[in-house]
Amino acid sequence: MNPLVESANALKLGLFCTNGTGASQTLAPERHTAPSWERSVRTAHAAEAAGFEAVVPFARWKGYPENRPEHPSGMVLDPFTWAAGIAASTERIGVLATSHAPTVHPIVAAKQAATVDLISGGRFALNVVGGWNRPELEMFGAPLREHDERYDHLQEWLQVIRRLWSETEEFDFHGSFFDVVGGVSQPKPAQSRIPIMNAGGSARGMRFAAEHADLCFLIVQSEDEAGVRKQVQGYKDMARSEFGRDVQVWTHTVVVQRDSQAEADAALHRFSVELEDTESVDAWMRLQGANTEVMPPEILAAMRQRMAAGAGGFPLVGTAEGIAERLEMLSTAGIDGALLTWVDYDAGLADFTDGVVPLLQKAGLRT
Ligand SMILES: Cc1cc2nc3c(=O)[nH]c(=O)nc-3n(C[C@H](O)[C@H](O)[C@H](O)COP(=O)(O)O)c2cc1C
Repeated sequence: MNPLVESANALKLGLFCTNGTGASQTLAPERHTAPSWERSVRTAHAAEAAGFEAVVPFARWKGYPENRPEHPSGMVLDPFTWAAGIAASTERIGVLATSHAPTVHPIVAAKQAATVDLISGGRFALNVVGGWNRPELEMFGAPLREHDERYDHLQEWLQVIRRLWSETEEFDFHGSFFDVVGGVSQPKPAQSRIPIMNAGGSARGMRFAAEHADLCFLIVQSEDEAGVRKQVQGYKDMARSEFGRDVQVWTHTVVVQRDSQAEADAALHRFSVELEDTESVDAWMRLQGANTEVMPPEILAAMRQRMAAGAGGFPLVGTAEGIAERLEMLSTAGIDGALLTWVDYDAGLADFTDGVVPLLQKAGLRT
């Protein structure tokens, strides 16, 4: 059983970014400066014991600042082999890998995914990304295609993978990007349909996600329920009306849980503003093409803080009660799942499990 699909919890939960140094760009001494396999397994076990549905790695081949190979943003374990290890070390939690289409041939990705699905006994899902970070793709000699074409390429890549997962006869495929002659992949995955996750946010990306993903991943752009509902409903309505599909919508969050709101606000300010990893956030802004000279200073500051805090994740900052209320708001607005990140995953996950999970159960969002 894959809890990503089968779980009856109204609000599903996952761990995010434990295959690297987390999601925050901070110089706080408690940050992770290198990925740790022991911590990856330990936190996956803790999440599984707390009833979480998923553990999701990210895919990154190179850190943000130039010529800084040792920078924490580039310290990332390979998502597929990491997922295989996590799958073998756990029993119930859903396990994902994240894969770039331009860096892995679909025949390789299809077999890797089928293998992890078999290792996990059918608990695997694949997060597919088209790539956006030019230097990491240039390292492969792969072009960073024009934005919408990345999704055309990703679509074809996924089409080949799905045929390899399902077809038992050899097939030829001649597309705009791939030529496959006598394509076949055995053994088949354990699941008849491996769930696909995608975080397309642009108009083209959203359309790709609505058409092809089972789990659409968005960055929440509003603080109020009506705004979040509108954003979530955009994906669900498009999937239903244009493609006859029902999709889950997930988001990622950054959790700062303390005994009082003031303490939580101060903790967030400390690691994401006072101890911001300026070199890293500056590099990220450049890579994103953010025009820092024309952006109003207050918008720029808010954007920097959200990136430094946790890759743009929705802030869950406050007491256990306050965090549970914000998660309830997201759920009421239609969010099906939240991935959680912390600066310190061990302590954060323990506090969240003790303090927030029982409140989510009480609210009927989880059993
Ligand atoms: C939660 C989340 C996780 C993502 N994970 C990755 C990743 O692991 N690797 C990557 O290259 N891009 C990742 N992305 C970037 C997306 O694939 C995509 O480029 C981004 O959301 C912009 O969407 P757009 O291409 O529709 O403009 C992620 C985005 C989000 C919101």
